[in-house]
Amino acid sequence: MQELDGFLEEHRDRFLQELCELLRIPSVSTDSRHAEDVRSAAVWVAKQLEGLSLSTKVIETEGHPIVYAESPPVEGAPTVLVYGHYDVQPPEPMDEWITPPFQPDIRDGNVYARGATDDKGQMLTHIKSAEVWMRTKGSLPLQIKYLIEGEEEVGSANVYKYLAENKEQLACDVVVISDCSQFAPGQPAITYGLKGIAYFELRVTGPRQDLHSGTFGGSVTNPVNALCRILTALVDGDGRIQIPDFYDDVVGLTDPERRQFASLPFDERGFMEKLGVSELFGESGFSTLERRWARPTCDINGIWGGYQGEGEKTVLPAKATAKFSFRLVPKQDPHKVADQLEAFIAEICPPGVEAELVRMHGACGYVTSLDSPYVTAATKAIEQGFGRSPVFIREGGSIPIVTAFQEQLDVESLLLGWGLDDDNTHSPNEKFCLADFQRGIKASTYLWRELAKISND
Ligand code: BES
Ligand code: MN
Ligand code: MN
Repeated sequence: MQELDGFLEEHRDRFLQELCELLRIPSVSTDSRHAEDVRSAAVWVAKQLEGLSLSTKVIETEGHPIVYAESPPVEGAPTVLVYGHYDVQPPEPMDEWITPPFQPDIRDGNVYARGATDDKGQMLTHIKSAEVWMRTKGSLPLQIKYLIEGEEEVGSANVYKYLAENKEQLACDVVVISDCSQFAPGQPAITYGLKGIAYFELRVTGPRQDLHSGTFGGSVTNPVNALCRILTALVDGDGRIQIPDFYDDVVGLTDPERRQFASLPFDERGFMEKLGVSELFGESGFSTLERRWARPTCDINGIWGGYQGEGEKTVLPAKATAKFSFRLVPKQDPHKVADQLEAFIAEICPPGVEAELVRMHGACGYVTSLDSPYVTAATKAIEQGFGRSPVFIREGGSIPIVTAFQEQLDVESLLLGWGLDDDNTHSPNEKFCLADFQRGIKASTYLWRELAKISND
């Protein structure tokens, strides 16, 4: 393995330069003005894989392209499917970035750019590790298939379709994904659960046009007031979601799992300080980690309506809109939640306004067993790459496609997060720690060897 380590050391700067190249491409999938940039990022990834002599294609979809590549099968060794995404979230608010989001900046041991950790940097570790093998040994110890998509941040609709239509091509023994976090700096983790999501836009409309709030206030329902009433009715003061039957399918935490969460060295004070809040809040009766990882939540993601300019304007606005989403736990179905929500809003909507609920993306939650030879192999690889054993955690984020891998390919995913909770994913000054980039490549390099030892018959 010295040879592999040596290659890694020798090429560490170039690997970083290559990551910076990818980070310079503003592949914002939700913004149609960036469609060409998203395509360039796909082509960039495909070139990397082609450069390793993998049979590679850029697949057109109704949305952004999918990059697929595979190495030859290796007899007796399992096949791994690496999933990742090259699309990123919008960089806004722009003026809060210390350096521009698509001009990667290296400072204090991190690379700062949109997509640095989510997911360009993490995804690239699994391509660079293959390069380490190819350039030192001339081949990989097992078959790797790469499925790198450009629509993860907008719900993965076209990858679902591709998966359903190409099950044989994508057949594998295990999926490897690095698109989440370590438990804490220097404390790597294997994630065995993710939340699902159900996302909505609610449009409330009232009078034909904006009105004078003095002349007309008190005679008609104000759509902004109505929207606020609806939104505040969703969750009570104890953090319990109020939609009837919402909790019916929620699987409660088991006692061993609660004990396991409680045994993790979670520093609540430090967490509060980092976030800049004086108190934590969430569903009563559960610890912070329980709420973050294994209880459903509801958050308003954006809200607008009425006057927002300088000074005051006494207006009764004609409409108001909000975007909000529920994080779901395994077994909760986003479609069922949408039906329940629709019925609830119809019931509580104040008179004299119309409330239109638009269903946006949805995904199921995921939980898997830790009792598998793949988890053991990943544990060993992480120990070698990070110099420390991983802890086992769940996460509050969602990766929509993992449940589809489970259902359609009948395989489990190894979620190996190289990121950190304070990497500022989806927010200004996103970063990825350079040491974690290196350790991630190293762990991934060893992962191929550890997984290759598992017989596939
Ligand atoms: N990488 C994240 C998911 C994530 C974040 C998992 C942190 C675990 C820890 C992913 O790119 C993401 O942002 N997913 C979206 C899914 C949505 C767009 C359907 C999310 O969770 O908001
Ligand atoms: Mn991601
Ligand atoms: Mn993301």
